[in-house]
Amino acid sequence: MRTLITVDQNASTPLTQQVYNAWRHGILQQRFFGGQRVPSSRELAQSLGIARSTVTTAYEQLIAEGYLVTKQGAGTFVCSNLPMHNLPKRRATLATRSRALAPAIPLSDFGRQLQSDNHIRPQPKGWIDFSHWDPDLTQFPFALWKQLLQQQLRRLGGSNNPLLLDYSSHAAGYWPLRCEVAKYLARTRAVVCKPEQVLITNGSQQGLDLTARVLLNANDKVLIENPCYSGARQVFAATGAKLLPAAIDEQGLRCDYSGKDVRLLFVTPSHQFPLGVSMSLARRLELLHYAKQRNTVIVEDDYDSEFRYHGPPLPALQGLSDDVAIVYCGTFSKVMFPALRIGYLVVPDSLVPVLTQAKWLADRYTPLLEQAALTEFMAAGHLERHVRRMRKLYGARREALVTAFQQHFGAAAVISGIDAGMHALVQLKDNMLLARAEQAKVKLRPAAQSYLGKAPPHQYLFGFSSLSERVIKEGIKRIG
Ligand SMILES: Cc1ncc(COP(=O)(O)O)c(C=O)c1O
Repeated sequence: MRTLITVDQNASTPLTQQVYNAWRHGILQQRFFGGQRVPSSRELAQSLGIARSTVTTAYEQLIAEGYLVTKQGAGTFVCSNLPMHNLPKRRATLATRSRALAPAIPLSDFGRQLQSDNHIRPQPKGWIDFSHWDPDLTQFPFALWKQLLQQQLRRLGGSNNPLLLDYSSHAAGYWPLRCEVAKYLARTRAVVCKPEQVLITNGSQQGLDLTARVLLNANDKVLIENPCYSGARQVFAATGAKLLPAAIDEQGLRCDYSGKDVRLLFVTPSHQFPLGVSMSLARRLELLHYAKQRNTVIVEDDYDSEFRYHGPPLPALQGLSDDVAIVYCGTFSKVMFPALRIGYLVVPDSLVPVLTQAKWLADRYTPLLEQAALTEFMAAGHLERHVRRMRKLYGARREALVTAFQQHFGAAAVISGIDAGMHALVQLKDNMLLARAEQAKVKLRPAAQSYLGKAPPHQYLFGFSSLSERVIKEGIKRIG
């Protein structure tokens, strides 16, 4: 047992008093918390190497004074509602102490970069939030998902399947899921791959991170879309690579950089993030030619391509070429729910071992229970059914957004990038917009933070997937 308190057998203070003092101080200093179970007198006496009666006497005193309580049949606990007037003082001391320590901790270059490029913001409560990355979680079939998890729990558990519970077999992902993902991508995205090329990651963010780490050295050149998904930009920058911004026009990313030394190129061809442009076939072929000439690895982030509102989804770039190295990256965060934390990479054969090793080093592997449940979810056709349903729902919300803008802003709002995906890009020349939104409790997302360098003014992302048509209309009315 881990010893929670210590005593000094050679000290002049009696042992009973030492045990009493240790618990009392620990409780007052909030090292021990209300409701926390304390070890039995036998356990504590054994771990400290002292007589049980010494502990019992100290416990009796602590119980008498109200620091500890006993619950019949359950044990002894720290009292949950201690009326201690010195607690706020202690809390204040802790806060001052941590503030005083914080500046003294030196950060790495990576750490410093993250301090100035931090996008984690608490969700505003009671506001209308036009979030551009959330699916509608109320529509996910969680009852079915729970059933699948329970089924898998019964199947995977214990001695009937020990192989599934060991350490080393799953770094690249749960094999049946890798097979399902390969079939799904062939069917829906025209991706050409074997299951061996599919690696399961904790969301596509980890896929991008591992790819950056195994392919990039400091000062390597990386061509990224500008504007660009900040999560990608940050992981590439973290390696010390030099980021070269590539402009986007109505056909997608432009390969204007003529140098030969581009190590990696990051692109979202199906639905450019954040502008929403779908890359034309001509530009795709140009891009492949560009990468081939330079031996550049293309990282294709296909994060929300399932939601295309006119015609079938555009095939992935990955399937168009077999002589350019493409790392294809996808996620279940948008088509299912982000907390699932399952994404995938499809990589050339030669990268499978090194990326598997990188995943192993990062966090061993992605939890198996969810992978196994997801395999069943896909194999039984639930995923594609859910995507079809969401496409219809998001399509109606997208219409509602466009109509609301027409109604409240007319020609002043220029909407683009909504053939696919979960958000629209809206150009709104209105200097008072942010202030008005703040006052009306509407959370807006300026596109500026996605740009490397100077951003054009008045661009906003309006996510429509997680809001009902009624709330969308209300939100636009409030800022109109
Ligand atoms: C363009 C793009 N790529 C990748 C991701 C990462 O998603 P996840 O790590 O949840 O799979 C996001 C998240 O919003 C995104 O917007």
